[in-house]
Amino acid sequence: MPVQRSIFGRPVPAIPPRRMAVLLGTIAVFAVFTLVFTLPNSIPVGPSLGRFTDHKIALPKIPKQLSPSILNPFRQAAHAPPVQKNSTTGEVSWYTNWNWLSPFSSSVTLDENRSLLPPLEERPPIYTYYDHTISKDSDRKDAENKILLTWRRAWWAQGFKPIILSPAEAMNNPLYTELQLHDIEPFIKTELSRWLAWENMGTGMLCNYLLLPMGSYEDPLLTFLRRGEYPVLTRFDKLGSGLFAGSKVDITAAVKQALGNKELKAAKDFISAVVPETFEIEPKHEALAYYDPVTIKDKYGKIADDINEGGTTGMLMLNQLTVAHLHSTWQNLFTKGIAVLKPEAEHMSAMISPAYRLAEFLAQCPESPMPASCPPNRPRCKPCVASTPLKITTPPAYRNTTELYTIGTVPHPYTNALLTSFREDIDVRWIRRESERDPWLTTLTKELLGTGVSGAPRVIKFKQAVASKYGTAHSLWITPEKETPADLDWHFGFAIPRNATDTGKSETPVPGPERRPVQKPDPKDGPVPNPDDEKKEVSLMKRAIEFGTARTPDEEKLRGAIEAWNLADTEAWRFARAFLARSRVERLKWEEEEKKYAGGAGAERGKAEGWGRWFDDR
Ligand SMILES: *[C@@H]1O[C@H](CO)[C@@H](O)[C@H](O)[C@H]1NC(C)=O
Ligand SMILES: *[C@@H]1O[C@H](CO)[C@@H](O)[C@H](O)[C@H]1NC(C)=O
Ligand SMILES: *[C@@H]1O[C@H](CO)[C@@H](O)[C@H](O)[C@H]1NC(C)=O
Ligand SMILES: *[C@@H]1O[C@H](CO)[C@@H](O)[C@H](O)[C@H]1NC(C)=O
Repeated sequence: MPVQRSIFGRPVPAIPPRRMAVLLGTIAVFAVFTLVFTLPNSIPVGPSLGRFTDHKIALPKIPKQLSPSILNPFRQAAHAPPVQKNSTTGEVSWYTNWNWLSPFSSSVTLDENRSLLPPLEERPPIYTYYDHTISKDSDRKDAENKILLTWRRAWWAQGFKPIILSPAEAMNNPLYTELQLHDIEPFIKTELSRWLAWENMGTGMLCNYLLLPMGSYEDPLLTFLRRGEYPVLTRFDKLGSGLFAGSKVDITAAVKQALGNKELKAAKDFISAVVPETFEIEPKHEALAYYDPVTIKDKYGKIADDINEGGTTGMLMLNQLTVAHLHSTWQNLFTKGIAVLKPEAEHMSAMISPAYRLAEFLAQCPESPMPASCPPNRPRCKPCVASTPLKITTPPAYRNTTELYTIGTVPHPYTNALLTSFREDIDVRWIRRESERDPWLTTLTKELLGTGVSGAPRVIKFKQAVASKYGTAHSLWITPEKETPADLDWHFGFAIPRNATDTGKSETPVPGPERRPVQKPDPKDGPVPNPDDEKKEVSLMKRAIEFGTARTPDEEKLRGAIEAWNLADTEAWRFARAFLARSRVERLKWEEEEKKYAGGAGAERGKAEGWGRWFDDR
């Protein structure tokens, strides 16, 4: 007997299997049609620009904080973190925090204009002693000033805080009166004053200003010294009084020991005035170059007489030699050359031209009184040869190679859009209908992350490449809308030669518009623009720079739209801009503090020579 089915207690008529199949089929077809025609409307659209198009309706407010949490309706109102000291310059501002690698700064700073940056590395002090009170003629003072400047720049670039001490610091030391009681040679008296000045400052390093760091940022000794903790009073084998490192307690003990020495009158230097056990002697110091008279006589015989005579010419020569060695050491570290990044290569020649020019400056051979010589600490160096300069490439993607130095140019999404579309009149419709999201960052990180990765992990990789310790030592990132910073010498640690020799001829530092040769990029690295395109690129770039400062309502709207469409590219641009600005502010602040002391010795005289704006010089 068939089972009697029932619904709500009523019998249900039995349906034969054939009619059952037809019924189920009909329901299925109906269901599919319903889905197809209703679903697209019911899926909430993400951050789309549908709202911005066809300007008849008033523009709704774009969310100011584009963080994931903004989507949460139950989000609590929060105070933005407090403004930190010296954390703003012009319209750029930043907030320093440990969680700097979160992809979108605004989720922490609650302000789209404030970028999240890593904490500034603590710079341990390194002291040198210079007596600016001795009267000398002004040429001589200028020459010494140049040497001190070279010293400061080199140590600054390696992550230290170079400080010039003078007799003022020595006199400030309570032990100074005790020194006056001794009847000793002026030379040893100066040596003791040096130590008194150091003791007065405390823990750190005491360095002769003819001792320079020449090695990679990752060198184990430099890394150790950067930690700023010196468990024992240390000197370096064969470097004599060139460099000491120690803590305040140990320095004080050593100074007291020297002053209490009955044989102080017979001592040649500080080291022989104390018992040998006072110092631990470090044998390994490949990254330290010391230009003491013995080394100069030994290695640079040709100019030794000039230098050791102590005249002004000799000093200038010595300074030029050390700068050239710093530069060629840098070139020797980056044997694979310089990569000037050029993502979206088609029309980017004008945009990357400042970076390319900087690369040319860096690749050329420094002027030197002995061009084929090596630094004292690197006898097997490869001196720069003009016929085989450092290779400059323009790859589209960032490559993390230790021997490759990267110069990146980070465009605002609008700049990038103008140049990739190669037209001046982009509008909201174009952005929405035709442009891709985050094109710049996607191309840049393609080799590292592949395709099919969202913006957030790309931004994190980018931030690491820009601002990690490793990143700062292996790359430089600039924004094309602003002038290239004039103080890049401090980033690299040596005076960058300012005239390019890509044509083999020397030029005046500021060439006229027609004299500047157009760069000839390697065709392997992407398309080479023809002269007409070149002109158009320059005019588009000009337009992009104007847009960066313009603030009409229409432009604001366009800016809002393009930034919302390219969240990751915008974040990258802001981050690079803020990072560059902060390193400049850090240095200016330190200059400001330092120029009060030692009669302002070692300061840059006159304004640093800029690079010229990229469009003024062609
Ligand atoms: C960010 O800066 C722009 C330009 O200076 C300004 O118009 C905008 O109001 C700022 N946004 C916030 C949240 O302060
Ligand atoms: C690049 O490589 C170094 C080590 O070779 C690593 O420490 C660093 O995190 C890498 N950077 C990026 C952005 O991948
Ligand atoms: C740079 O220019 C100056 C003159 O302005 C010239 O004396 C010098 O030789 C040039 N240097 C190089 C490397 O071309
Ligand atoms: C840093 O801030 C102080 C006041 O807080 C100001 O006097 C000084 O000029 C600032 N320095 C720089 C380089 O902005």
